[in-house]
Amino acid sequence: MTRTVYVNGEYLPETEAKVSIFDRGFLMADGVYEVTSVLDGKLIDFDGHAKRLERSLRELDMAAPITMEELLEVHRELVRLNGIEEGMIYLQITRGAPEDRDFAFPDPAKVPSTIVLFTQNKPGLANSPAAAKGLKVISIEDIRWGRRDIKTVQLLYPSMGKMMAKKAGCDDAWMVEDGFVTEGTSNNAYIVKDGKIITRQLSNDILHGITRAAVLKFAEEAQMVVEERPFTIAEAQAADEAFITSASTFVMPVVEIDGTALGDGTPGPVSKRLREIYLEESRKAAI
Ligand code: PDD
Repeated sequence: MTRTVYVNGEYLPETEAKVSIFDRGFLMADGVYEVTSVLDGKLIDFDGHAKRLERSLRELDMAAPITMEELLEVHRELVRLNGIEEGMIYLQITRGAPEDRDFAFPDPAKVPSTIVLFTQNKPGLANSPAAAKGLKVISIEDIRWGRRDIKTVQLLYPSMGKMMAKKAGCDDAWMVEDGFVTEGTSNNAYIVKDGKIITRQLSNDILHGITRAAVLKFAEEAQMVVEERPFTIAEAQAADEAFITSASTFVMPVVEIDGTALGDGTPGPVSKRLREIYLEESRKAAI
């Protein structure tokens, strides 16, 4: 089925949507993005994603081509036009298309930002078989740039990490810097030891996950203990459980790290419980 997508103010069939070859997103990866999940035809945590988008834009001195109220309407209209019950909405804003390639930023008064949104239909997203089985991860060195708190479209290294994992017969890679895990290629990383949930604290080293914020809040409301600090791969391999969070995977158990099975090699009770709570609470608050 041909999707209806949104490009610079217009709803178009995906086959007719176009962006200039001079667009700085294409030439320089000069763009930011968000992925918002859809459950029961409603948006999960739209507000969190909109706030992080505003922050990413601000940090890069990039103009927002749309208000957050309008953005909500575009998200809802795309869900409606494409009949999405479960899936994701991808949003990208770039610094637009100047007349030529130039390292210097164009004048925002002359070159408007480019905005693109499209839907990804994923029936069964919440009921994923991967959640019942758990993921296997490998560790790789984190060689990304120093502003990972900004959600930019510079995703080449995370893509390479995903391919390294696939080559090793695994599902994803956890990145390690100075001996400590930063995050997964497209998710935040957690371990569980003696009932305590351990995850790296927020800084410029990791993306400030919207799912992370929600899961930590739900965990604390459920009287679970959360410790925000870095951990090593060795500590993770000796943990009782591990899991990741992201808008597209919610809470997803990890059962193996660099070939070492965690516990009995099946998803642990804390990860399973957190996934249930997250899905239940997020569905209630969806808009
Ligand atoms: N990725 N860390 C990284 C590097 C990410 O790319 C993501 C999200 C997260 C989790 O953030 P959130 O909970 O807000 O989705 C952490 C999205 C889903 C993606 O690139 O598809």
